[in-house]
Amino acid sequence: MKKLTLILFTSLILFGISCSKLNNRSIDKIDIKVDSVLSLMTLDEKIGQLNLVAGNMDQTGPNTNKEYEKDIKDGRVGAIFNVFGVDNIRKLQELAVNNTRLRIPLLFGYDVIHGFKTIFPIPLAEACSWNLESIENSARLAAKEATANGLNWTFDPMVDIARDPRWGRVAEGSGEDTYLGSLIAKAKVKGFQGDNLNDPYTIAACVKHFAAYGAPFGGREYNTVDMSERVFRETYLPPYKAAIDAGVATVMSSFNEIDGVPCTGNKQLLTKILRNDWGFDGFVVSDFTSVKELVNHGYASDEKNSGELALNAGLDMDMMSNVYSNYLKKLLDEGKVTEKQINESVKRVLKLKFKLGLFANPYLRIDDQKEKEITFSKEMMNQALSSAKKSIVLLQNNDYKGKKLLPLSKSIKRIALIGPLANNKVDLLGCWNAQGDASKVITILEGLKANNPNAIIEYAKGADFVGTDESGFNLAKNLALKSDIIICAIGESIEQNGEAASRSDIGLPGVQQKLMEELAKTGKPIIAVVMAGRPLTIEWLSKNIPSILFAGHLGTMAGKAIAEVLYGDYNPSGKLVMTFPRNIGQIPIFYNAKNTGRPFIANDPYTTRYIDSPNEPLYPFGYGLSYTSFTYTDLRLSKSSINHNDTLKITFSIKNIGKFEGEETAQLYIRDLVGSVTRPVKELKGFKKVFLKPEEQKEVSFTITQNDLRFYDANMNFVAEPGKFKVFVGGNSMDLIDSNFELLN
Ligand code: BGC
Repeated sequence: MKKLTLILFTSLILFGISCSKLNNRSIDKIDIKVDSVLSLMTLDEKIGQLNLVAGNMDQTGPNTNKEYEKDIKDGRVGAIFNVFGVDNIRKLQELAVNNTRLRIPLLFGYDVIHGFKTIFPIPLAEACSWNLESIENSARLAAKEATANGLNWTFDPMVDIARDPRWGRVAEGSGEDTYLGSLIAKAKVKGFQGDNLNDPYTIAACVKHFAAYGAPFGGREYNTVDMSERVFRETYLPPYKAAIDAGVATVMSSFNEIDGVPCTGNKQLLTKILRNDWGFDGFVVSDFTSVKELVNHGYASDEKNSGELALNAGLDMDMMSNVYSNYLKKLLDEGKVTEKQINESVKRVLKLKFKLGLFANPYLRIDDQKEKEITFSKEMMNQALSSAKKSIVLLQNNDYKGKKLLPLSKSIKRIALIGPLANNKVDLLGCWNAQGDASKVITILEGLKANNPNAIIEYAKGADFVGTDESGFNLAKNLALKSDIIICAIGESIEQNGEAASRSDIGLPGVQQKLMEELAKTGKPIIAVVMAGRPLTIEWLSKNIPSILFAGHLGTMAGKAIAEVLYGDYNPSGKLVMTFPRNIGQIPIFYNAKNTGRPFIANDPYTTRYIDSPNEPLYPFGYGLSYTSFTYTDLRLSKSSINHNDTLKITFSIKNIGKFEGEETAQLYIRDLVGSVTRPVKELKGFKKVFLKPEEQKEVSFTITQNDLRFYDANMNFVAEPGKFKVFVGGNSMDLIDSNFELLN
């Protein structure tokens, strides 16, 4: 019977008959289909499926393969990235389907990180919304627009936990916290992949960069990673695991090594943890040329050896090293790899192609009409605006001459809008902006003018992102002097964060700091809108500028969103997902640190401290203000002690004591006071968004069980240890009210 089914499927595929009816059957049937295709394949055809090449419409790595069209025709390519648009994709899909013997369709990948053409906030900014629903919706719509443009695979979510803002790629991730990062990983996978990859609006996701790529020494891109197994398992691994549990289709191995073994050739990671422990059954793709980079690492003796190490480690698809295409056959002849291993990798790739519905219809996502209808549609723009507003964090809003500057009064007549991001479209798109169209971006100048047509808003750039040119200062100062208020749009350009953009100094780049100092001398009220792909060291601003917003890089609708927040049409509700250090010397700095044997005590020099800087950050994790204020009171626990099967209910009240309605993100932290290994001073274990009208009070509750108290104990068992715990609730990781409970034996 099995043989008969095999022959049936085989002939359907060979004669190009649509398998759509078969495709609708259960996913288990896919395995039979995959086997049937595999049984027809030559070794060369199999190796072709494991080769991922870059097209020439974008460049995201060191080189491109100019011969890719010929290679596709000759069956030497299984997937391609950095091409898009239905015409281009149709042409390449036709090359594969019409010229190769088995007519196996291609995967079309691209880095759709925060939108394809309509650009949502960079991930670091969007994470500041702490709004999982909105984050999932952005991913869903990014998938919709990308698939309408022919793509079927995105290299996202990037879930690398990062505690060092010098690393440029913090912009692409969800910040420093494992709990929040894991929830966001899951939301993004759900958003991209939906419930069924066969749906033409869904895209296969790729969780990256596996693993711990976010912890390079010194924050320097591509640098060595080394950490204890405990930190690795407890802090860095869970977001990847969350993506796997959410059903992510693919995984990308990272450039870095960990404990001396580069991840692309790391069997412990790619086979033991990923497949054996976590049950991942999709395929693993390398990062850009990371297979052949095993040679530079000093792990492989030559390129051929790098292929052997990668395949044996469990790496299925080679991105741009050409090592699998050049050497797998030889390695097989030499007995260094087996055909069974190659078959397993090929099966995983074919399986995804079946799941995506590509065997049934290689042109499933290639539809001119949809491309036109969906790209920049109203639905996209609405989400871009809604998400951008939610991502903005109010860092401070101090009194200026006894009054708050924000929200801006519409009666303020003359506004000086100054800074390199004020009338700028390109940089608002942020790093990894795919095919974001700068001409569609609403600048801050446009946003403000549209919001308040009665105000006279004049613009001066003042300074650039790089260099030492101060020639724009005078114009900016003159403008400031004749205005009622100054709004400064300052921060980083698109190139100053993202991949290959680590910085050793994370202050305001160029002469922007000096510009701010000059503007402050005018004595005029100043609001700073800081836009960047990372936390910046802005201690001077915090001391000298009354009102400061952190607005990441917010994408297509940035200017409108910022104007709505400045004018109070939207009350800011974002909370930081990465600690803002005061200075570089404090890095790495993160909220869930350990207490140490000599915790800080003021005036006691023999406690953990700097002699030239406070320990506390400038703005802590979880922090963000609102135009209103919230109080936390009446913290109650349902029990003072729980046993291993109990649930603990934690209840408290939040009240809006200000004049504006607003949304608060209430956060729950736990501290395990004594453990067989030391525990952090705080760990995020829950959060809830609460909307309150002025004077309104709501009761909020969380429940926890011993599952929430688990960690890797002295023997690396993941357990909850009996003992005393502290519970904290509040609006950020530092200002909290607390109580205690005990976990019984
Ligand atoms: C990056 C990946 C990206 C890949 C393909 C690499 O340089 O590290 O994150 O997905 O290029 O563009």
